[in-house]
Amino acid sequence: MLDTARRLDDFIEEFTRNRADAMQRSIDRVTVKAVGTAKALDLLAESGIGVEGAIPLACHRGHVLIFAGWNHPDRTVPPAKLRTYRALLAQTRITKKVPNRMEDRARDAGLQVNLLAKKDDQTSRRDEVGRFAEAFGAFGLGETDIEQLLVSANTTIAYLTNPLGAVASAVVAERVTIDLEGHGSLVLVEITEAITRVEFRGQGLYRNLSGYIVDHIRFGEAGPLHAVFGECNLSSPGVIYAARRNGRRFVTDDAELYGGPHRPDLTFGILCQNFSVSDGVESRAYNDFALSYVDLTNCA
Ligand SMILES: CC(C)(COP(=O)(O)OP(=O)(O)OC[C@H]1O[C@@H](n2cnc3c(N)ncnc32)[C@H](O)[C@@H]1OP(=O)(O)O)[C@@H](O)C(=O)NCCC(=O)NCCS
Repeated sequence: MLDTARRLDDFIEEFTRNRADAMQRSIDRVTVKAVGTAKALDLLAESGIGVEGAIPLACHRGHVLIFAGWNHPDRTVPPAKLRTYRALLAQTRITKKVPNRMEDRARDAGLQVNLLAKKDDQTSRRDEVGRFAEAFGAFGLGETDIEQLLVSANTTIAYLTNPLGAVASAVVAERVTIDLEGHGSLVLVEITEAITRVEFRGQGLYRNLSGYIVDHIRFGEAGPLHAVFGECNLSSPGVIYAARRNGRRFVTDDAELYGGPHRPDLTFGILCQNFSVSDGVESRAYNDFALSYVDLTNCA
C-alpha cells in the first residue's frame, strides 16, 4: 500500500533494483501491482517508474490498483501500432451495453452451459482436467498447470460443451485476497484465460460467456469484491467489442481522469508485449493487452 512517502520511496527503490537486476540477467519484462492513490500514480511516473495503468477499487475511496511495469527496449510496441490500438479502443467506446443471453445463445447453438465454482469440491474439479487440455494449451498450459488451476477453490470457470462433452468455449476467473496492513483485505478477481474453439468462433459465445461469469462473480458469490478486471488481447478485436458490449471500462478511457503524466502517454492502459497467446493472429513473440475492468458501483 503506497500511502506514505516512506512506502512510496521504498517501492521506487525496490522496483529500480529489480529492473537493474532483470537487465543483468537478460530478463526483459518486470511487472508489479501495488495499491495507492492517484497522487502515488503521478509520483511513480515522475520517478521514472513505468505506470501501465490503474483500476479503481470499490469501497477503498480514492485508492487504485496500480500496474507498474518495465520492458526492455527490444520488447516494446511501435507508436504507430499503439495508435491503431487506441483508435480501436476509442471507436468502440460508443458500443452500447447489451444484456447477457448465455442460456438462450447456448441452446440455439446446441451447447450446454457449465460452471465450476466455489461450491464444487476438489474431486469433481479434478475430473474435468482432460476436458480442458486442448482449449487451455493455447495459453501454454500443460496438464499439471490445468490441474492446479482447476483444483484451486479460487478459480471459477464458465464453459460450454457440445453433446459429446467437448469444450466449445471457456472463460476463467481467478480470485485473490490480499491483506493490506492497516486497510483490511482486498478481494480482486481477474478474468484470465478465455478461448473459443476455432469451429465455434464468431457466434457470440465468448461475449455471452464472459458476461455470464462476471454476473456470477458479482451476484452469485457472497463476500466483498473490490475489483474485477481483465487483460484483453489486442490482436483479437472481438475481445474488445465483447468487453464493451458487456459494459466494461477500459483504462485507456481513464487517462484524462488521472491527468498528469498519463494523459499523453500512448501506453497508459495497454500492457505492451505482456505474454504470449497462441491465437493464430499475433506474429510477434508476445501479445499486447488492453486493461479493462467492471465498474463496481455497489460494494459489499
Ligand atoms: C477471442 C476469442 C475468445 C473470441 O471468441 P468468439 O466466441 O469467437 O467471440 P464472439 O463471437 O463472442 O465475438 C465477440 C464479440 O465481438 C464481435 N466482433 C468480433 N469481431 C469483430 C470485429 N472485427 N468487428 C466488430 N465486432 C466484432 C462479435 O460480433 C461479438 O459480439 P456480439 O456477440 O455482440 O455479436 C477467440 O477468437 C479465441 O479463442 N482466440 C484465441 C485466444 C484469445 O485470444 N483469447 C483472448 C485472451 S484475452
